[in-house]
Amino acid sequence: MAAPAAEPNFVQGFPYGVDLVPGKDYFYCSCGLSKNQPFCDGSHKGTGFTPVKFKVSEAKKYFLCGCKQTESAPFCDGQHKKEKGLRKYNEFLLKKNGELQTQLAAAAKNKRSIVNEFSIIGVSLGVIIGAFAAQRYFGHN
Ligand code: FES
Repeated sequence: MAAPAAEPNFVQGFPYGVDLVPGKDYFYCSCGLSKNQPFCDGSHKGTGFTPVKFKVSEAKKYFLCGCKQTESAPFCDGQHKKEKGLRKYNEFLLKKNGELQTQLAAAAKNKRSIVNEFSIIGVSLGVIIGAFAAQRYFGHN
């Protein structure tokens, strides 16, 4: 279950263009946690967010909010290009950059560990080969 959130999760800095048809109930994800964006997949449970149920009057492409900052959900109102949406996008990029830095640091540490293990294996092989060669050389008269 997701932790309670005061603000929706930023998903992307542009709207979703989706083909919708009349006579059908749609559930727009307002929390930003759904893996089926822009639609609800139930991931909002426990967050305080609820999906936005809506219908459309004609079959066409609609643009649903991707930044989750719209003031006319579920539809894009251009917030992703305004201060609030751009600030959220910037926060999103900084967070992703921090995650990448952590992954890079872990990979570098892991690489050093692997290099150290190969060094130990190399030294061990050198000792074994040296001992074998010494035995062959000095073992016979
Ligand atoms: S998963 Fe986001 S509102 Fe349901």
